[in-house]
Amino acid sequence: MHVAGTIRVPGDKSISHRVLLFAAMARGTTRIGGLLTSLDARSSARVLRQLGASVSPLVAGRVIRIVGRGRLRRPSAALYCGNSGTTTRLLFGLLAAHAFPATLTGDRSLRRRPMRRVTEPLAAMGAKFVEHGGGGLLPITVRGGPLHPLTHRMPVSSAQIKSAILCAGLAGEVPVSVFEPRGRSRDHTERLLRAFGYQVEDDGGWVHFRPTGRVVPFDLQVPGDPSSAAFPVAAAVLAEGGEIRISGVCLNPTRTGFLRVLERMGAGVLSDGVEAQHGEPVGDLIAAPSALRATEVRAVEIPGLIDEIPMLAALATRAEGTTVFRQVGELRVKESDRLGLVARNIRALGGAAEVVGDDLLVHGGNRPPSGLVRTEGDHRIAMAFAVLGTVPGARVRVDDLSCAAVSYPGFPEMLRRLRRRPR
Ligand code: S3P
Repeated sequence: MHVAGTIRVPGDKSISHRVLLFAAMARGTTRIGGLLTSLDARSSARVLRQLGASVSPLVAGRVIRIVGRGRLRRPSAALYCGNSGTTTRLLFGLLAAHAFPATLTGDRSLRRRPMRRVTEPLAAMGAKFVEHGGGGLLPITVRGGPLHPLTHRMPVSSAQIKSAILCAGLAGEVPVSVFEPRGRSRDHTERLLRAFGYQVEDDGGWVHFRPTGRVVPFDLQVPGDPSSAAFPVAAAVLAEGGEIRISGVCLNPTRTGFLRVLERMGAGVLSDGVEAQHGEPVGDLIAAPSALRATEVRAVEIPGLIDEIPMLAALATRAEGTTVFRQVGELRVKESDRLGLVARNIRALGGAAEVVGDDLLVHGGNRPPSGLVRTEGDHRIAMAFAVLGTVPGARVRVDDLSCAAVSYPGFPEMLRRLRRRPR
């Protein structure tokens, strides 16, 4: 395939969730341009409406208005978070400081994901949790109240755990400190908190928060999602000719680990015109076809590219040599067991991959991929293998591409438009 043109990707998912939650905590009207309108973003908007905020309909290309009331209100029904782990875990943090009960639940995938990593530290701050089915799984009722300060060592480097605790510190007006054991996870929450005047300091893996600020209504433009941009970037890398530009992508260094790995693999991906916008570096990505070689992705790099591993693993099937992703056990508790599912799907397409302990090994080759991909409803698995299906001679069928709408509305159309004939 040949690729051409300039595209935009949808608004960043992590930033979209955070601005919705913070806008609901502010008293007054916030206006957000470029907000993600995917199913996950809709889950955040829906539950925040149940909690008393007014959120205008999430229509792509429109400025979204959120009217917050300064605090959240007691909901009259359970809060259904759909497929969204970020909605669930960050909301637990805010609700931990609110003196009413609220029950959170979600779809089958979300009801399998571990919540104690968040509920245990929040319980240590003073919130009460009731697990309806046990095992640390949703549905869970939280009853918040006045909170104590917390110093917490996280079991894994996770932006969702870190942000849940920071949200509790913000809503409960108490200091918190969290330690990330291995590598830095995305820092959008810290950046937004600083913009509201909170003291947030990084110190050798620790993040220290002091309740010195106040959440007030704001105007913000959400940049493009680098995790979504990874798919057209990969499609261009795998193409036979041409070049694409993806404009207005968030290039926060805690999110662009995949670009550094692609560079080691020999891919020609450049960033251009990077400038600070609303506290985040934003710029264009230019990607072109490249021959790939294998690399080793070290454990400290994993938090900075955690969501890009399915795409990088699919690319590694086309590289010369064996690519190793070290210590990627966290992938087992994503929207699916991504670790097992990535390896199984690579094999289902005639490639070679295996899981050894918590490492993922992908052997490269030249044979065009052929076969059926099982997504288990996981959006990033669906998109990664749909992109792999664009290599010349491939015959890849993805059992369910509709789940791409969890994070990337219009993904199938984008992929079709990229496949332009050379002029
Ligand atoms: C996210 C954090 C990551 C990531 C998820 C979004 C966030 O999860 O996988 O897609 O917005 O904070 P973990 O914190 O569980 O690693």
